[in-house]
Amino acid sequence: MIRDTLIEKLQNTQHLVILTGAGVSAESGIATFRDALTGLWGNYDAESLASEFGFLADPALVWGWYEWRRSRVLRAKPNSAHHTIAQLAKQLPKLTLITQNVDDLHERAGSSNVLHLHGSLHQPRCLICEEPYTFPDEAFPGNAIDQKSRIKPPRCHLCDGPIRPGVVWFGERLPAKTWQQAQEACHHCDLMMVIGTSGVVWPVAQLPYLADQEGISIVQINPVITSLNAIATYNLHGKAGEILPQLYAAAFDKA
Ligand code: OAD
Repeated sequence: MIRDTLIEKLQNTQHLVILTGAGVSAESGIATFRDALTGLWGNYDAESLASEFGFLADPALVWGWYEWRRSRVLRAKPNSAHHTIAQLAKQLPKLTLITQNVDDLHERAGSSNVLHLHGSLHQPRCLICEEPYTFPDEAFPGNAIDQKSRIKPPRCHLCDGPIRPGVVWFGERLPAKTWQQAQEACHHCDLMMVIGTSGVVWPVAQLPYLADQEGISIVQINPVITSLNAIATYNLHGKAGEILPQLYAAAFDKA
């Protein structure tokens, strides 16, 4: 049940901030991290796969795992949550989209200027000199890759260092400019939606609290209760791919 006050608020919003997490891509078949049974961190060791320490210990294991994830993303399609967010950007005067996701499903749904706080599976770089690496054009091996494939990382064309995934690993800083832009948007928006995140990974988890301190209303969309329930003005419990289109239709589709 979507409250009338939320519909009115959305219709009158000048600057909407949307923060997304893995849950927004779940209906595209991309695994989340912490959902029971299906979450990546329930099935894989985060320490050995998502840290520089793990990469140095076994580069082929780590590169292969990220290539498996990239192959899944390339075969996935944006879902109705991604599409509705792109539509909202056309409807409202200003929308800042902040994501923790390392896939490109927001962009493929039509969103632009997405603030990727945890990097991207699609933008690897040299571990040593940070030169960006471009994946070859030929078709992705696709089915040939599974989650246990060991693949030696390519070498940097400048310094011959190993190429590492372009994601933010545990213990690493967020990209400074992107983080700054995300914080500013949360201070200055007039409505914030937090969609499909468990809200446990800092510093990103602090963003809704910045908005809350400014007295900005927060809408949470998530099938389960999270710590954000305590500060969200509107808690919409359900799947993003179902709730977002309903909310959009209630606010903007003419009767
Ligand atoms: P989590 O796996 O921690 O949380 C996913 C959230 O999505 C959960 O709260 C689910 O209830 C919710 N969810 C599942 N299906 C959904 C659906 N259809 N619609 C809406 N919500 C749904 O993922 P994140 O919060 O994104 O970091 O995790 C944060 C970070 O932890 C990730 O960016 C990753 C990980 O370590 C890095 O890779 C650096």
